[in-house]
Amino acid sequence: MERSCYNTELSFKDVGKEVSLVGWVAKRRNLGGLLFIDLRDRSGIIQLVVNEGVEVPDIRNEYVIGIKGKVQKKEVPNKNLKTGEIEVSVSKIEVFSKAKTTPLIIADETDALEDVRLKYRYLDLRRPCLQANLIKRAKIVKCAHQYFDENGFIEVETPCLTLSTPEGARDYIVPSRVSNGSFYALPQSPQLFKQLLMIGGMERYYQIARCFRDEDLRQDRQPEFTQIDLEMSFLDQDQILTIMEGFLKKVFKETINVDIKTPLRRMDYSEAVNVYGSDKPDTRFGLHLIDVKEILSNSVFNGYKEAEMVKAICVPGIAEQTSRKIIDNLNLEAKKFGLGGIGVYKVKEGMLEGSLVKFLSESQQKELIKKCEANNGDVLLVASGKADRVNFGLGALRSQYGHELGYVKPNTYDLLWVVNFPLFEKDIHDGSYKALHHPFTRPTPETAQYLYSDPSKVLSAAYDIVINGYEAGGGSLRIYDQDMQKKVFEILGFSQEDIMRKFGYFVSAFEYGTPPHGGIAFGLERLSMIICGTDNIRDVIAFPKNLKAACPMSSAPQPVDDAQLIDLGIQIKK
Ligand code: AMO
Repeated sequence: MERSCYNTELSFKDVGKEVSLVGWVAKRRNLGGLLFIDLRDRSGIIQLVVNEGVEVPDIRNEYVIGIKGKVQKKEVPNKNLKTGEIEVSVSKIEVFSKAKTTPLIIADETDALEDVRLKYRYLDLRRPCLQANLIKRAKIVKCAHQYFDENGFIEVETPCLTLSTPEGARDYIVPSRVSNGSFYALPQSPQLFKQLLMIGGMERYYQIARCFRDEDLRQDRQPEFTQIDLEMSFLDQDQILTIMEGFLKKVFKETINVDIKTPLRRMDYSEAVNVYGSDKPDTRFGLHLIDVKEILSNSVFNGYKEAEMVKAICVPGIAEQTSRKIIDNLNLEAKKFGLGGIGVYKVKEGMLEGSLVKFLSESQQKELIKKCEANNGDVLLVASGKADRVNFGLGALRSQYGHELGYVKPNTYDLLWVVNFPLFEKDIHDGSYKALHHPFTRPTPETAQYLYSDPSKVLSAAYDIVINGYEAGGGSLRIYDQDMQKKVFEILGFSQEDIMRKFGYFVSAFEYGTPPHGGIAFGLERLSMIICGTDNIRDVIAFPKNLKAACPMSSAPQPVDDAQLIDLGIQIKK
């Protein structure tokens, strides 16, 4: 039986039309001789009605069927269905294949645990919400192909069996059978190859690239994920950002019909960290971090007096609901976010209340209230300690409160570039420098001089696109001057031997004429999450891994046969 159209292509104007439809039985009900079937295909659901006299085979949920019939007006329209005004009166019905009782309810609302859903992902994928997500994801990819093609970018594929790429995570490695004892690394990104493509004269490259990183997983991280990856020659930072803004504008318009105003705001890393406590600030709400060190520097409380930084956030109107239990929880949360603890002060009758208030003079209390522009009924959260911990710890609490208290309205989008990152971060244990992005990131022209005096002051020509508090992408201009690259390697503590072993081929290429170049990679899954309105990355991946980096459906990873190990020259330690 051949389908004449998708279910939801039919509407009131088709009443009287003969159609043939195919799909899965989403629901069936017998009502006094009449059989009603909800037929589901990728487009959605339509109701079928089978009158007495039509030969009906045994039909159950999730059977795959085909029908012929006539579209008719529905007596009582179903407002919940796109096709709710009509139904199809069936004249012929055929079962293509039967189905066992499914281990999960196949509907947007399902109570199945996520591991069950992942084990039976092919059933989970029948749920309309997941199909809608994958369709949106595909639209983003289509936008990328169209937009970058129109803007002169060439799609090039780069290898997956390669050497380690310097993105800072652990590599997934693949043993070589031909050269026992040697290993490929799966790419953490196509970073080195795309730069080599610039040296190779491609000028504008893009790729929908698979990347692999063996790192701790989170709600927005998967061990294998996809980047919309780009690199361009002879463009400055503004030109690159403008092209990327055009892409984002197209994606938001064509997937969810949202108009994004460009140019996007640019925020210095230092402002992001100091005011929002994050390098990916969600600026849809306030709750800014306020520096109160000066007010508390002569406090009798050592925690404030001796701290490198003391900061507060003022959460309006929650004093009443902030119970002892909530305060205890807040302290636990604060510790989870790297803070020693948190001072919780309620504002009442123009003064502060709280267990630490005994350490604050009357004038300190008043000054704090004034500086934080707090009102009676508000709560001040005060954190002290090392600068980074205070900023990022308080930032994490800010973000949590912002979401819990409903400051973030659904379907609102906040896009900005975070720029002027430090080029290096200092290891708190041994004081050594690490690249905040990667070792090929170019310093800003204004700060490059500090490479030779105080590397901690060097800023990078790097940019992250932040959307609703997610880092949706990041990139930079790259170093193209060999002496500068050598200096950066030296600061990072790479020996000549390290350099040659890890990226000798790459460094050598720079000796043959390197164009000024830069690029960016968008996380396709992160963009899809934002566009689909989910905070779970697995909702936008057809076959994701669980938090243990395993696939509950195929049971990967698994041990392999001894014969394979022998071929590879590998012996597993028991
Ligand atoms: P970066 O490491 O910032 O940059 O990655 C770019 C973007 O990829 C996404 N991303 C991830 N998404 C899901 N799961 C993960 N484990 C994961 N890791 C990263 C994020 C991130 O912003 N080569 C550089 C780009 C460049 O400089 O051009 C790079 O990979 O959205």
